[in-house]
Amino acid sequence: MLSALNGRSITLIKLCIHLSCFIPLFYLYWRAYYDELGADPVEYVIHYTGIGALNIFLLSLVVSPLAKFLKQGKLIQLRRVIGLYAFTYSVFHVLNFLFFEVQFDFLLFISEIFERPYITVGMIGLFILTLLALTSFSRIKRSMGSRWQTLHNFTYIAGIAIVIHFYWSVKSELVEPVIYIVILVLLLVLRKDRFKRWFK
Ligand code: HEM
Repeated sequence: MLSALNGRSITLIKLCIHLSCFIPLFYLYWRAYYDELGADPVEYVIHYTGIGALNIFLLSLVVSPLAKFLKQGKLIQLRRVIGLYAFTYSVFHVLNFLFFEVQFDFLLFISEIFERPYITVGMIGLFILTLLALTSFSRIKRSMGSRWQTLHNFTYIAGIAIVIHFYWSVKSELVEPVIYIVILVLLLVLRKDRFKRWFK
């Protein structure tokens, strides 16, 4: 049986999260600046930030079941910082797209959202992640009352939108997106009791 984590351990874990999320992102653009990303640097940065955002997002969904399993309620405090990094990576992902693929032509960007289904669902995912990030501050959380939880239940819709975005964005290699879909389904299955309560 693990002894209960104290505030200091949580701060240490948060520091590790900051380092392991911030350094790879910084190093990515460092290598891009020095032209060290291989033959197709644009594809590389879009792929890296997209997969990074998805991995971190899924990690944020692991926190609650893990806290329950280990009986370490304090771990829940990590959800916010992990979720904010998922949002940060997503923003860089979309900025890469805006900068390299559409050169900040917003009309072209909007037409892409309407014409390409994989961009449409990606936008839905980003929109939800933005709302979750903006409402993650404790003052806003308090002022929203029970509406906060209702809004944050949209995390699961974001997850579904993001894995569909990944699946639709690949042309042939379907194994990787399918693995991510299975992981998301497993993480949702762990929450089946919560979903059952909604539909009662
Ligand atoms: C408006 C919003 C978004 C746009 C415009 C966008 C754009 C793109 C593009 C252009 C690709 C590469 C497709 C290709 O290889 O041809 C891609 C792939 C991907 N995106 Fe997004 N995306 C958006 C939102 C998101 C969000 C919110 C996430 C995750 C949180 C995400 C995760 C991914 C992943 C995992 C891939 C696959 C990476 C790969 O294997 O190349 N995207 N996205």
